[in-house]
Amino acid sequence: MTVNLVIGTQWGDEGKGKVVDYYSKDADYVVRFQGGNNAGHTIKVCEEVYKLHLTPSGVIQGKIGVIGNGVVIDPEILIKEINDLKNRGIKPKLLISDRANIIMPYHKILDGAEEKFLGDKKIGTTGRGIGPCYSDKIARNGIRAIDLTNKELLSKKLDVIIPIKERIFRAYEISEKLDKKIILEKYLGFGCQLKQYISQTHIELNKAIKSGKNILLEGAQGTMLDVDFGTYPFTTSSHTIAGGCSIGTGIGPRNIDEIIGIVKAYTTRVGEGPLPTELLDKTGEHLQKNGHEYGTTTNRPRRCGWLDLLVVKHSCMISDITKLVITKLDVLNGLDNVKICTKYKLDSKEIEYFPANIEDVKKCKPIYKEFRGWDQIKPDSDSLSDLPAEAQKYVKYIEKETKIPIALISIGPGRTETIEI
Ligand code: GDP
Ligand code: IMO
Ligand code: MG
Repeated sequence: MTVNLVIGTQWGDEGKGKVVDYYSKDADYVVRFQGGNNAGHTIKVCEEVYKLHLTPSGVIQGKIGVIGNGVVIDPEILIKEINDLKNRGIKPKLLISDRANIIMPYHKILDGAEEKFLGDKKIGTTGRGIGPCYSDKIARNGIRAIDLTNKELLSKKLDVIIPIKERIFRAYEISEKLDKKIILEKYLGFGCQLKQYISQTHIELNKAIKSGKNILLEGAQGTMLDVDFGTYPFTTSSHTIAGGCSIGTGIGPRNIDEIIGIVKAYTTRVGEGPLPTELLDKTGEHLQKNGHEYGTTTNRPRRCGWLDLLVVKHSCMISDITKLVITKLDVLNGLDNVKICTKYKLDSKEIEYFPANIEDVKKCKPIYKEFRGWDQIKPDSDSLSDLPAEAQKYVKYIEKETKIPIALISIGPGRTETIEI
């Protein structure tokens, strides 16, 4: 029995979909535990590309996909994703926690309205209603998956919630109307379609652990988007760090074996907020172009910069990461020099920790270690020694500095473009 966890160590889009798919071969269950359809996880198998937002990546390998209680679910998107997969010949084996919160129409409207109100101070959210849904969950005004299967319960909840939302709508001068009857019918309809998957997933997962099954937990986003340890308030609204997996599944923390941190060989970020190693020059363009750095969910261009090891170390500490996976090393091909940020200069002081004050983060200037670049990584490389000497040096430096063993190196989006160390 193993319970392994995969998380992003940066600002998301590290290649979690690819890595989760790779490790899914040994899993019985693959479990999402936070976030929602703000996530976009890409899996490439031969010429087939899958972009999953809510369905755990392991379903591509035929594994049971669990959407844990910590996830926020837009049922319309989930149903579409299930149908799209079926149309492509994959019938996902799914389980949805009865306790997962549901993204309602007013969450999506409010996400847009809040961003508009903030103007140039906006967060740059994905606009999927994630923040407003998590806010309602914590305020105990949430609709949960189980509520979609019970007309009386859902109706009673909407009677309480809709008048509150109408007041907020008025404050934001939102003209859209919330018609309780229409919302009730529509969401009960979603409940009908999803009922077959909704269950007490925490019980199933704990039984699975007791009976020796393998569980792979699939993080969404990354440490720097964590609501506490990220670049707050330019974060998402959930706990993206290792600690979030227990809260979001009902699996006790003592069960977790390996905590696998994904490190993209450089840094990207979508949306607003500071990115200390951002490159607004030709090198930034190289990374964006060669890495196809456009959001999987919103198609927005991702901002790009050098690898920030201070950030990676911050992630390793908070999540007690036991293994690293380096992704997209191939994207650095063809650069004369490559750099890794090791520290920041804040005012006149050198620091090795990530500041809490966002204004301090904005002032941080990266201090770099420079490496010689390399020309090409052969796509069929299957061991570390196949890589150019300069690329090996780059990877070994990450391992030395973090003191965490590197388990995999990804050199292309495909399942086979992976080197096991
Ligand atoms: P996730 O959100 O962490 O799952 O990452 P995304 O799927 O949003 O973005 C990662 C992108 O990089 C996807 O288009 C992947 O197909 C691609 N990708 C993953 N690993 C590699 C790699 O090692 N090299 C290259 N060139 N692309 C990769
Ligand atoms: P995956 O799982 C990259 C970012 C948004 C925005 C901030 C808040 O694919 O790595 P939200 O809609 O969550 O309220 O937006 O978080 N963001 C992501 N950036 N990858 C993601 O997921 C993200 N999910 C949210 O761009 O800056
Ligand atoms: Mg993504």
